[in-house]
Amino acid sequence: MTLLKKEIKICLGSSCFSRGNKQTLQIVQKYLKDHKLERDIILKGNHCFSKCNAGPVVKIGDKLYERVTAESILEILETELGEIN
Ligand code: FES
Repeated sequence: MTLLKKEIKICLGSSCFSRGNKQTLQIVQKYLKDHKLERDIILKGNHCFSKCNAGPVVKIGDKLYERVTAESILEILETELGEIN
């Protein structure tokens, strides 16, 4: 039986990227490194989710987070990954 790793997809479409996901990507990478989660989480960039109006968007597992900011991403990561720590 394989254990499914949690997947984080950061929208790197031009709208989301220029409105905050460039920074969010760096924050997520640092968070995973600091919490030694790099081997437990799959981090991917994604093309446009066709949700630009609600962007910047980040998908974790099946859940799509909208209007993600540098502040809110930390709360989201704590909520989503806190129990893995
Ligand atoms: S660029 Fe991110 S949803 Fe379109």
